[in-house]
Amino acid sequence: MSQQPPLPRKVALVVGARGVIGTSLVSHLVELGDWEVIGLSRRGGVDEDRVRHVQVDLLDREDVTATVGRLSEVTHVFYAAYQDRPTWAELVEPNLAMLTHVVDVVTQAAPDLAHVSLMQGYKVYGAHLGPFRTPAREDDPPHLPPEFNVDQQAYLEEKQRGSRWTWSALRPSVVCGGALGNPMNLAVSIAVLATISKAHGVPLRFPGKPGAWTSILEMTDAGLLAEATVWAATTPACANQAFNITNGDLFRWDDLWPRLADWFDLETAPPLPLSLEVAMADKEGTWDRLVREHGLAPTPYSDVSAWPFADFVLSWDYDVFADGSKARRLGFHRYVRTEQMFLDIFEDLRARRVIP
Ligand SMILES: NC(=O)c1ccc[n+]([C@@H]2O[C@H](COP(=O)([O-])OP(=O)(O)OC[C@H]3O[C@@H](n4cnc5c(N)ncnc54)[C@H](OP(=O)(O)O)[C@@H]3O)[C@@H](O)[C@H]2O)c1
Repeated sequence: MSQQPPLPRKVALVVGARGVIGTSLVSHLVELGDWEVIGLSRRGGVDEDRVRHVQVDLLDREDVTATVGRLSEVTHVFYAAYQDRPTWAELVEPNLAMLTHVVDVVTQAAPDLAHVSLMQGYKVYGAHLGPFRTPAREDDPPHLPPEFNVDQQAYLEEKQRGSRWTWSALRPSVVCGGALGNPMNLAVSIAVLATISKAHGVPLRFPGKPGAWTSILEMTDAGLLAEATVWAATTPACANQAFNITNGDLFRWDDLWPRLADWFDLETAPPLPLSLEVAMADKEGTWDRLVREHGLAPTPYSDVSAWPFADFVLSWDYDVFADGSKARRLGFHRYVRTEQMFLDIFEDLRARRVIP
């Protein structure tokens, strides 16, 4: 009987393993069953079968050299780390530094490195600046700097030239998942807004700009994104390219918002523009009381109150969507209904006793 050669070892280095995106990536890689996973983050995590968490400060090149430099077994890097800053210009320096530290070190340390996957977003298309051409396509013309996603891709392209490993870049829309303690997680923000509205006995009013109520949007489920990310990293035809990754449907808040309110048994009322950063600043007491009264998992308000990002997304009084067909043409066909995505995340938050 002829013996099959052993399958090549697949070792994923998930950079930013505790993020909205990184958390789902780790879960998906574990579910696939044939990956070993090493997760990097500042806070670290609890190791499980097949997952090892490593605490590191990616801004500190010496720390990265000491930790990542030892990880010679890595075959795939999934980069989804992120440093938040108050202005678009300030995002560039730390986010470029973290990526270059990891990639410079891992390309020296890991002889079997096959792929580096880079998580991007629609800022590549200028979504953070104002109305941009929709649907945005991967080959749309560039815009003036500063913008960190573009600089990160340029660095990666240059670094890869002449190497055996390949890269891919993923461009999701607003990403929704169940992770806590992150600066950008719209689904958690809506769940907490609804929970606190209910506690105050008021309807769930849309707090965004008037025009945002009817603009056309799309979302990206963190689980779908994880599948797409691993697919792109392991499909040879995807090498050295970028892909928009979206749920596959479009929506307007005027249609979706009342259905989300329904899940919380809340009425809606006409939209009322409101800065959540301002209006929710004094709601820590309400949140702590809800946690006590409902016997919820003790989640600090700071872990569920990333209001500036919610304010930003709900201010889009113009269409924000991209053409997701390139990934579909190359073979990624997964689809998620956005309404169901929100409801599933709310269910999950309730099951984990994060919300009542
Ligand atoms: N969330 C969205 O809606 C969205 C949409 C489109 C694109 N994106 C892009 O996707 C990428 C990831 O976003 P995300 O929302 O998943 O980010 P996130 O939730 O803020 O997660 C960032 C991760 O990076 C880690 N990290 C940050 N600084 C670090 C440091 N100095 N050393 C070690 N680890 C560090 C964090 O560690 P700790 O957990 O320990 O702090 C966390 O695990 C970003 O480029 C973002 O622009 C996000």
